[in-house]
Amino acid sequence: MELKTRKVVLVGTGFVGMSYAYAMLNQNVCDELVLIDIDRQRAEGEAMDLNHGLPFSGSHMKIHAGDYQDCADADLVAICAGAAQKPGEERTALLHRNAEVFRAIISPIVSSGFGGILLIATNPVDIMAHVAQTLSGFDSCRVIGTGTILDTARLRYQIGRFFRIDPRNVHAYVMGEHGESEFVPWSQAMVATKPVGLFMGENGSLNLGQMLQIETEVRDAAQKIILAKKATYYGIGMAMVRITRAVLGDEQSVLTVSTMMRGDYRLNQVYLGTPCIVGRRGVTGVVGLPLEQGEQAKLEHSAQILSGLYQGLRL
Ligand code: LAC
Repeated sequence: MELKTRKVVLVGTGFVGMSYAYAMLNQNVCDELVLIDIDRQRAEGEAMDLNHGLPFSGSHMKIHAGDYQDCADADLVAICAGAAQKPGEERTALLHRNAEVFRAIISPIVSSGFGGILLIATNPVDIMAHVAQTLSGFDSCRVIGTGTILDTARLRYQIGRFFRIDPRNVHAYVMGEHGESEFVPWSQAMVATKPVGLFMGENGSLNLGQMLQIETEVRDAAQKIILAKKATYYGIGMAMVRITRAVLGDEQSVLTVSTMMRGDYRLNQVYLGTPCIVGRRGVTGVVGLPLEQGEQAKLEHSAQILSGLYQGLRL
């Protein structure tokens, strides 16, 4: 009997793609990792470099450069290809450039007969996930954007730091666009099942001003990193591994990824970040949180912006 192997194909071996690949290797998440890049030589060089780390990694991953035919029997294809933000540039400025890139990428993936999950990290990620879903014709549950998973991690890190509590015991989400219109539904933020406004840590409790400051810092984190070091990649790479693990392990984990709203939160036909249940079949459910009125309005505002940008593409 042949053992089932877990195969992942990565399209785009820039900083984000390779941070993902490096984290995959270190966390031993799949059995085979194929690297595809428009610059084949670059993909080959990256595969060599990672392979030389195998003896130190405790992983037995097969890593090699490949082409779109490799998607045929892959469990997950991760797309990181496209232009990245320059300092001061919003994610949405990349839209038209990256939509063109996706026209070239999605069609050969579909032609290969790929039947797995598409994971999109290219920015502006909510719209790019929607573009990938439209161009592929796949059921939307199979096309996942990284959404606000990293913003949520940044939020948990900040709240954890404030209270001096492990961020894994912070249950709070960033929702909406991965970008300017994202927001924190504070009514849903808990520390160890206690509403965040009631929690007393070493630094006392979190007042409204401090919540707002944390929310702003989370929203502006990427810009700050880009100003300082030109790009962000480790955080998003590790966030992608988390999603990949949930898919390959059929975990049904709750992650704030970007998915198509189908009546959820009274929204339709728009991709945005909400807490979703993620497993082998992709996104199998959206967790409907009891948002307060103002929070629902912020989500609708985010949805409106994303819908407008998507429709402007005239795919
Ligand atoms: C960030 C990029 C991935 O937020 O958009 O770091």
